[in-house]
Amino acid sequence: MRLRLCWQLGLGLALSAATVHAQEEELARQAYGLLKEACHSCHGGSGQQSGKILVLNHGNLVAARGGSELPFVMPGKPDDSLLWQYVESGYMPQSGSAQAKSFRPEHKNVLRKWIAAGAPAWKVREVEPVDDRTILKSIEAHLGTVNPNTAPHLRYFSFAHLHNNDQIGEDELRLHRAALAKAINSMSWERATVLPQPVPGTHESVFFIDLRKLGWDKPALWRKVTELHPYGLAFDEVRDETIAELAKSVKRLAGHGQQLVLRGDWFIVTATRPPLYHDLLGMPKTLSELEKDSHIHLDWKRNFVQTTPDRQLLARAGFAQSGVSKQNRLLERHELPSGGYWWISYDFKPRKARGDLIRFPLGPKFDGNPHPKFAFDHDGGELIFSLPNGLQAYLLVDAKGNRLDDFAPADVVFDRSAVSGLPAIINGLSCMNCHREGMIGFEDDVRTSDALGGEALRKIRDLYPPRDVMRKLVDQDRARFVAALDAVCGPFLKNGEDAKRSIVSFPEPVGRVAERYQTDLGPHEVALELSLSGREELKIVIRNKTELLKYGLGPLAAPAPGTIKRDKWEAIESFSLFQRVRQSLGRGEVPVN
Ligand code: HEC
Ligand code: HEC
Repeated sequence: MRLRLCWQLGLGLALSAATVHAQEEELARQAYGLLKEACHSCHGGSGQQSGKILVLNHGNLVAARGGSELPFVMPGKPDDSLLWQYVESGYMPQSGSAQAKSFRPEHKNVLRKWIAAGAPAWKVREVEPVDDRTILKSIEAHLGTVNPNTAPHLRYFSFAHLHNNDQIGEDELRLHRAALAKAINSMSWERATVLPQPVPGTHESVFFIDLRKLGWDKPALWRKVTELHPYGLAFDEVRDETIAELAKSVKRLAGHGQQLVLRGDWFIVTATRPPLYHDLLGMPKTLSELEKDSHIHLDWKRNFVQTTPDRQLLARAGFAQSGVSKQNRLLERHELPSGGYWWISYDFKPRKARGDLIRFPLGPKFDGNPHPKFAFDHDGGELIFSLPNGLQAYLLVDAKGNRLDDFAPADVVFDRSAVSGLPAIINGLSCMNCHREGMIGFEDDVRTSDALGGEALRKIRDLYPPRDVMRKLVDQDRARFVAALDAVCGPFLKNGEDAKRSIVSFPEPVGRVAERYQTDLGPHEVALELSLSGREELKIVIRNKTELLKYGLGPLAAPAPGTIKRDKWEAIESFSLFQRVRQSLGRGEVPVN
């Protein structure tokens, strides 16, 4: 509207650079709004993936995709852009969806105009940049206010590079904070929940925790974390003397030389998977050790033998149609003496005789099992159990009950959403993403089948309760988890107009952070991770430093810029590429630890 008016007044003939810029900004803003309304919930909004496109990640849209595939959006060339082709043909928004119904020709037109204008990046927030100096200064001030006995136990998580990115909305920043809160509390055996606290002066881009409150105050434990941290930096020797002085002062106040500041997004995505997930939780190597843990105290064999309908120590459901397994699946619930629940699945490889739960529902075999003839023979299991704070922990085991450290064999269970970066299910991260409300529903088919009779049937009726009984147990457990989730994530998500939303209506935060984190980095993201002002400065820096070309950063400065893979950026060979580049820019050194 405003555009047309300009032309009619004849001003269009002499559009000043400033006007063009303002028009581009407006177009970008409109495109962002539209992609958010019409596409985001299927493309990057839910943790559920539809192709590889993340519509609100500008870098992802315009970046070269490798191989022969063109970027989703070719700036200036709508007809060559897959995004436009799909929209133009009416293929997207996907037909039948609510988004398709409210999608109008004028919406289409906005997308076309935006691409034709060079697909300018949008700016969705006013940013007051938080740079290295601000971070150090704020931490120095913060450490100055705490008890010297407390200081050594504090650790900081930075999201400054995301805060500084004006293409990322406030809602996404909030999800990162919520993800940090969920992650740390999902790896703590303490009864009280812990909220990461913002460091004053950082616009909520840096948070701190007290390791003691999570039971993480063992020096060797935190060293394991920092050894894997590819974004660790020291500033004691940098050229900028103010920064070097600040860094030394911070170290004095902290009372130790260990890495103090970790990248928040790295921590969320890395600490929630093995090995750190198991280390931080102190997860035993076998199921039987875990059962003996003082918080758990589970005697499942006794529960198997002693369960009766009026004393449901154990409750089972067996079925053939699973959301994650192609085979039969058996789920079993126990109540923990300390409160909370213990769920274990028995999973089976394909085409296995003793994997038929209708014929063999009374496994597994163990000394004292009264029905060994009808015992199944399983290949692995997945476990969910309550932590004392009401959140839950996860474990994958093989047939013998040994902890699996890499991932579940894909012929047993698999994850279509590939949140771990692979279709394989990885303990921790993958589980959190799917089990967003704790429990997922299912229905038993074993109780009502009539394959067995006599004593065995009586035992089946004891162990496999009617569906409504099981449904109540699942609902009860879900409510317990969701209440804890609300306590931990609510303070970060339920703000402003979202204050009254239910906690489960937000995207699952850890999976969402993983999704952004695993996307290839464009020049804008790389610049901000390096504490540069943006891609223009990055371009200049790359042109002036041949070293950086040697490290493979050249494509980031090309006219149609390429991307760099997260894996490559953070792979550690004595130090990471990130650290190498920082050091060569004089913006930080590799820390001793
Ligand atoms: C209701 C869900 C839904 C909505 C809304 C939706 N899409 Fe899609 N989109 C899908 C699914 C599912 C696929 C994968 C199927 C396919 O590629 O045929 C897909 C694929 C795509 C792809 C190809 C991705 C790739 O990796 O090859 C593009 C581009 C795309 N959509 C653009 C859009 C745009 C632009 C909008 C909004 C105007 C939109 N979509 C809205 C569900 C949706
Ligand atoms: C791809 C999504 C997905 C992932 C990833 C996933 N699950 Fe599940 N899980 C399900 C579904 C769906 C059910 C419901 C039963 C079924 O359909 O198999 C379920 C059920 C369970 C149950 C029974 C309790 C309940 O919620 O119904 C346990 C225990 C369990 N999963 C453990 C795990 C563990 C441990 C992990 C991580 C190693 C994990 N799951 C990862 C989808 C998933």
